[in-house]
Amino acid sequence: MKILHIDCSPHRASHSRALSAAIVAQLRAYAPDLDTTHRDLGAGLVPPVDAFYATALARRPSSGDGELPGTMQCSETLIREIEASDAIVIGTPVHNFTVPTTLKAWIDHVVRLDRPMAMGSAGKIGLRADRPVFTGIAAARGTLVSAIDRGRIEIMRDQPA
Ligand SMILES: Cc1cc2nc3c(=O)[nH]c(=O)nc-3n(C[C@H](O)[C@H](O)[C@H](O)COP(=O)(O)O)c2cc1C
Repeated sequence: MKILHIDCSPHRASHSRALSAAIVAQLRAYAPDLDTTHRDLGAGLVPPVDAFYATALARRPSSGDGELPGTMQCSETLIREIEASDAIVIGTPVHNFTVPTTLKAWIDHVVRLDRPMAMGSAGKIGLRADRPVFTGIAAARGTLVSAIDRGRIEIMRDQPA
């Protein structure tokens, strides 16, 4: 079983990193041969999408093996990490009532037209099989572990004080 393990906190010693590590440990208890790829968004290595990305979307480029322009290459790398996974584990803090900019940048890169999704008459359609997404969220008012299936990222919830 292949897990894409994503952390978003800027802190090394972080609550959400501890949560995502605990989720991975639980999954390993069920599947001892777990194979993990760690994508550390908190390290700040994923840039926001650039003009190449925006204009390339309009031109509908192929996703062949050639070098892609600007942040399209980053987008392709991140999408392939998802495609290689059976499940995704995300550890993230809440920043200003929503996801950190690092996680939003990742979402912008991977929700890409003609790769994992297409535009249908009723909106966006996923082109890949659903896979479980387990999300550990840390916020100032407490912590929450949420296991969300069907591959959707719905991670910001009201929390009890
Ligand atoms: C820039 C920033 C914005 C934050 N905004 C919120 C917020 O809107 N709501 C909240 O409950 N906590 C907020 N927090 C607090 C963090 O979510 C909380 O400290 C969390 O435990 C940090 O997780 P981490 O240790 O994994 O980074 C914010 C923290 C930072 C640094």
